[in-house]
Amino acid sequence: MVSPARLGRAKGKRTGAVGGLKIELRAGVGHAAGVVGDYKKDGISVARLDDGGKSLAPCTIVIFGASGDLTGRKLIPALFHLFCQGQMPERFRVIGFARREKSDESWRAELRAGVDEHSRPPRREKSTWEAFEKNLFYHRGDLTDAAAYQSLEKRLSDLEDMSLRANLVFYLAISPTLFGETVDQLHGSGLLRRQKEGEDFWQRVVVEKPFGTDLASARELNSHLTRHVRERQIFRIDHYLGKETVQNIMMFRFSNALFEQLWNREAIEHVQVTVSEDIGVEGRGGYFEEAGTVRDMVQNHLLQILSLVAMEPPVSLEAEAIRNEKVKVLQSVRELTPEDVARQVVRGQYFAGSIDGDARHGYRQEDRVAPESNVETYVAARLFIDNWRWGGVPFYLRTGKNLPLRASEVRVQFRPTPNVLFAKQADLQPNALTLRLQPDEGIFLRFNGKVPGNSMEIRPVRMHFGYDAEFGAYTPEAYERLLLEAMAGDATLFIRRDEVETAWGIVDRIRAGWDDTPLSNREFYAAGTWGPETADDLLARAGHKWHNPQAAS
Ligand code: BG6
Repeated sequence: MVSPARLGRAKGKRTGAVGGLKIELRAGVGHAAGVVGDYKKDGISVARLDDGGKSLAPCTIVIFGASGDLTGRKLIPALFHLFCQGQMPERFRVIGFARREKSDESWRAELRAGVDEHSRPPRREKSTWEAFEKNLFYHRGDLTDAAAYQSLEKRLSDLEDMSLRANLVFYLAISPTLFGETVDQLHGSGLLRRQKEGEDFWQRVVVEKPFGTDLASARELNSHLTRHVRERQIFRIDHYLGKETVQNIMMFRFSNALFEQLWNREAIEHVQVTVSEDIGVEGRGGYFEEAGTVRDMVQNHLLQILSLVAMEPPVSLEAEAIRNEKVKVLQSVRELTPEDVARQVVRGQYFAGSIDGDARHGYRQEDRVAPESNVETYVAARLFIDNWRWGGVPFYLRTGKNLPLRASEVRVQFRPTPNVLFAKQADLQPNALTLRLQPDEGIFLRFNGKVPGNSMEIRPVRMHFGYDAEFGAYTPEAYERLLLEAMAGDATLFIRRDEVETAWGIVDRIRAGWDDTPLSNREFYAAGTWGPETADDLLARAGHKWHNPQAAS
């Protein structure tokens, strides 16, 4: 999931997990790298990447939606961490664009408080923040007002450093209804142009989710954006792709012959992808009433995980090669008719309950939610990928709010051994591999072992690799990685036009199957349980059972 160019950018030395192989990075700021050799360390073969290549160019990041939650909680803390690690370009500016009246100083003070609250430890020296905040500026303006963009243009042109004027990242952390208009305005003011081949300077647009609300609106938005810029200037965010463990899915698969050889319909019986959350809609009732879980989580995060788990090996680690393979998976997902949806997709909505003794409202009692709402807060689906590798293997996806705990994992269940030697032991478990994406990141392999003693009793045992134990507790925030990639112009971790549209096609067919029918009694679940009972039926019909993630140890 990561190109060598990106892996090698960190200042100093970084190590990364690639299954059992360690990749050690020895690179300076902004350096592209290629694998130059292997050596042994602690008995483990380490592939070393070189530090050749060009630097991250100086640039200005303009954040639209500068007063918003995302900016304070995620974007600025991420940029600050990159700065602390020496990973920002040598010269950079961050300009926050929003409607409220603020000065540079008051915006900086606000952001400082946000960093103190949301940043992960360790705390930084005051002087580091002071050095960082010198690069932060606030620009007051209305997104629909051409004059605001002209004054932004003037402000940028007044900068002495030409690169800071010319290399621009426009981050749209705003209402999706304004994506199109903002890009029109940027184009109109001369700030955003279609990139020509071989140009030294660049402008990029980073678009937050949701990217459309269905296939038609996503297509329209894509056509709108590409009127002014090329596809390669558009960086569509799915923050799951910025997660270290999600990137590792591809590394794990393609660097370990042991697993890759078994990664197919011959050896695998079914796959379960679970993304469970222990929170409700958290004050976002208004948004959720429009979105529902299938659009909020399945269209993006779950289908992205699915495509990484099921993709063929790419021809290289270039962005387009990887994205080509991912989109093929989505294109191979068997189309669901309304009858299939009734059989293969389950939705649910939470009612009042409790999690760890903490009482939770029902969804219908949440703020800005209709008292009779039929919007789903839980989805489980059984999908088939109709290609050579996966023909006939069910992929079960599920995600929900107010489930017992927060955990994301991929569980690969292998086929059982022939029932010959241990036929008497009725509960013999097949092998299973679990990629734990968050929290308690790691990989578990379950196999069977003989219980010591005179009997022939067998029971499941586990092998466990934990990120913390192997690499230390530091796991970079997804947004750090994504911002770095956007500045570097590597689109590997962003969603391409055809990917987003194909994913919407899948979701649209699911929603068409539901056809606005009200939820039945069996589709409700108490907050703090693992979803509606219909979700258990979905697997039971095929003789399968959900494997519920365990709490972090
Ligand atoms: C967002 C959804 O994309 O992902 C939220 O809009 C959800 O509803 C969040 O809570 C989950 O992200 P994470 O990183 O906490 O797993």
